[in-house]
Amino acid sequence: MKTPNIDLKNLKNKAKNEIEKAEDLKELNDIFKRYLGKRGELTQVLRSLERLPKAKRVKVGKEANELKNFLRIKCEQKVKEIKEKIKKETAKIEWIDITRPGKKLVLGHLHPLSQVKNKTEEIFQLMGFSVVEGPEVETEWYNFDALNIPKDHPARDIWDTLWLKEPENQKSKIKNQKLLLRTHTSPVQIRYMKKNNPPLRIIVPGRVFRHEATDASHEINFYQIEGLMVDKKVTVVNFKAIIQEFFQKFFEKPIKIRLRPGFFPFTEPSFEVDMSCLACKGKGCSVCSHTGWLEMMGAGMVHPNVFKAVGLNPKNWQGFAFGMGLDRLAMMKYKINDIRLFYSGDLRFLHQF
Ligand code: DAH
Repeated sequence: MKTPNIDLKNLKNKAKNEIEKAEDLKELNDIFKRYLGKRGELTQVLRSLERLPKAKRVKVGKEANELKNFLRIKCEQKVKEIKEKIKKETAKIEWIDITRPGKKLVLGHLHPLSQVKNKTEEIFQLMGFSVVEGPEVETEWYNFDALNIPKDHPARDIWDTLWLKEPENQKSKIKNQKLLLRTHTSPVQIRYMKKNNPPLRIIVPGRVFRHEATDASHEINFYQIEGLMVDKKVTVVNFKAIIQEFFQKFFEKPIKIRLRPGFFPFTEPSFEVDMSCLACKGKGCSVCSHTGWLEMMGAGMVHPNVFKAVGLNPKNWQGFAFGMGLDRLAMMKYKINDIRLFYSGDLRFLHQF
């Protein structure tokens, strides 16, 4: 039997060198297999030991086992080293600067009409008014009769009404009452006064409906804000002061107002309220048809018949009421020339607010 020629020193140097130069885990794995795998060089040496004479076998065996351990440890160290290197490199590439400003999330925002409604509520609440709401589907009585607009009275023609067909099974619930989409927020005056005793101050924001052709200043549905203040002694002077204050706060600049005689069945006297044109500061321009004034709302002193309809004695109570178009207010504030834009869902429009 031929004695194997074993040069452990050379093997050690070679293996050590290769391990040290390994660039990645794959290469290192190959080296490991080459020396310590099933057919690895060192494994072969260990296997061939039995063929050596005893004295030499013990000596070489010891050295070979030491070398095996040495190479194992060397490989483990190298694995650690390579992993560390990879970690550092990825950290360099994936570096995050936590001080950089973040990406802004795209959030929605309130519709301009909601913004105007909120602002209006805020101003009136500061003046002691509560915010009250009512139903969009109304009975004929609340929308008309109780507001001193009797059946067959020509005044009903002021409001082009969308009447509802009542389902058979509901007919008995509200006796002889036709249902409609409310044409204004005024019926909430009645609803509130039936349940609450004066003194009272309320505003009623809400959606109303008209059976009308649409154009730049008319929609089949839009928003109103109703106002009502009732006490022992409430006069037009109180109304003027409150409305003046509201416009001033809403438009954030001095605003002049004026009252003109008007007609509404539920107020007496009634008036139309104009404010000085913002576009020309009252000098006269195309926005205000060269009058210097813009019509903003209808108003008046609560009619005695309205008090009677809710069971209040008109001799004991006085009040003012008003109704203004929320859309109109928003159009003035943001200089919008077509009411239909509010309901178009056009993001190019909505993003501007
Ligand atoms: N309800 C009226 C309309 O829709 C507006 C209005 C006018 C409301 C005078 C009032 C008022 O409370 O007093 O045209």
